[in-house]
Amino acid sequence: CAPGNAPTPAPEPAPPDTRPEGTFTDRWTLQEALQLPADAEKTAQTTMPLITSWPQGAQKTLPDQWVWDTWPLKTEDMQIATVRAADGTPYYVLIHLSVDDSVLPGARHDLATLRYSYSTDGRSWQPGGYLFPEGVVLGSRNWAGSALLKADGSVEVYYTATGERDEGPVQGPSSVLERQQVGDVQGPLTADGQLVPQSGSGFPNEGGIGFEQRIALADGVKAEVVNGRVVFSGTWKHRVILRADGTLYQTVAQSDAGPLYGFRDPWAFRNPADGKRYVLFTGNMGGLKSQQTCQPEDLGDAAFRAGLGALNAEMPLHNGAIGLAVETAPGAWKLLNPLLTARCVNQELERPHLVMKDGQVYLFFSSHIGKFAPYGDLRDRGEEGLYGFVGDSLRGDYAPLNRGGLVLNTPLTQRYQSYSYDVLPGGLTTLFVDVPGIGNQDISVVSTLPPEEQRAVFGGTLGKTLKIDISGRSTALVSELNYGQIIP
Ligand code: FRU
Repeated sequence: CAPGNAPTPAPEPAPPDTRPEGTFTDRWTLQEALQLPADAEKTAQTTMPLITSWPQGAQKTLPDQWVWDTWPLKTEDMQIATVRAADGTPYYVLIHLSVDDSVLPGARHDLATLRYSYSTDGRSWQPGGYLFPEGVVLGSRNWAGSALLKADGSVEVYYTATGERDEGPVQGPSSVLERQQVGDVQGPLTADGQLVPQSGSGFPNEGGIGFEQRIALADGVKAEVVNGRVVFSGTWKHRVILRADGTLYQTVAQSDAGPLYGFRDPWAFRNPADGKRYVLFTGNMGGLKSQQTCQPEDLGDAAFRAGLGALNAEMPLHNGAIGLAVETAPGAWKLLNPLLTARCVNQELERPHLVMKDGQVYLFFSSHIGKFAPYGDLRDRGEEGLYGFVGDSLRGDYAPLNRGGLVLNTPLTQRYQSYSYDVLPGGLTTLFVDVPGIGNQDISVVSTLPPEEQRAVFGGTLGKTLKIDISGRSTALVSELNYGQIIP
């Protein structure tokens, strides 16, 4: 610059665009995740009670079925919904991933179908049967989602349509999945309880059983109480509302290395701050998995990065994201930037959901020990747990709750006892009993057991609901309630 001229000051960086449709994406950084408590540091604030027994046989949430991911019918504003009988009695509804309990527990994801149950006290549940008893159910199987009861009594079910097989009109009285369960299509199982792959359909990681995940919406029915049962009257209409785009969110074709991608677990709500309808979901960061690298913002601040050891080449294969989409016009949905990503930290941020409290947005999700990236002792710190963050808006600059984001962990002597946590209003947190029967062995032992033992170590039923207190930047486990309890 000319002599005497003051140097031009560097322009102020633009503030991050934290509107819901904005570009800011928060990170669960490696620096934050390494704050997760080590085993010796885990306390009663987060450690769940040991599961020593669980309902069996006819006492299970659904007799004759394995049940795992479960969610209640809710209102758009995130409260538990009730369907009213003519005499005014309120009925609660739960929707479950389910499969006949003759199926090996490890094969359940390949056959999952939606069933529901109902209750007048929010504690004891009556089986309602198939949620979609007939019609065109999308996907060869259905994974987790959410369900809304609207003011006019109509119902929307958001679910994951997984796989392409038979993705057309379903003949007969029941779903594709029913036919698989009762017929011989289920086929031989591999030693680890998975379906033996059939001839390849072109997707990586699967060889015949498609793993492409789309977010689907079913509506067109009303919830009613008829003769003391909740029923859905009308005809379900199913359509895919969201697909991974490859840029913001990884597609199945881009999942070319490492663990399988996700585009699933839609959780629908109306944001009180702007009145718009959104869906949160489990995703991975867009782009070819094998080409991704750990970026400075994934790792932490400059001082932390300066002290980092060598980065394992498998770290960027872990690039979990919590996705967001907005309804732009009735029935039209648009992908937005992820709310939170965890590249080089964690591959699967499952079943994301929100609790609004004291003007803050609490973001919760589940993850597995084995889905943490291999760095130092990160996998030892990670648990089959519930994780959470708090921000002051939907696209907040989220801060991890407690230490590193750990809200609930399984007991150290029984790490695989439960999974798939859902924090409801008031801090009631549902979960399912996974494999408590293997004690402190690694999950990989299950597939080495004879089939009857695989069934015996697995719960496949709702566990006792836990109550957590949520306040500021921390949570605390306060009590254990009844099996499947959703109302205090
Ligand atoms: C969590 C989960 C979900 C998925 C389902 C498939 O338990 O992995 O993300 O919807 O299980 O069974």
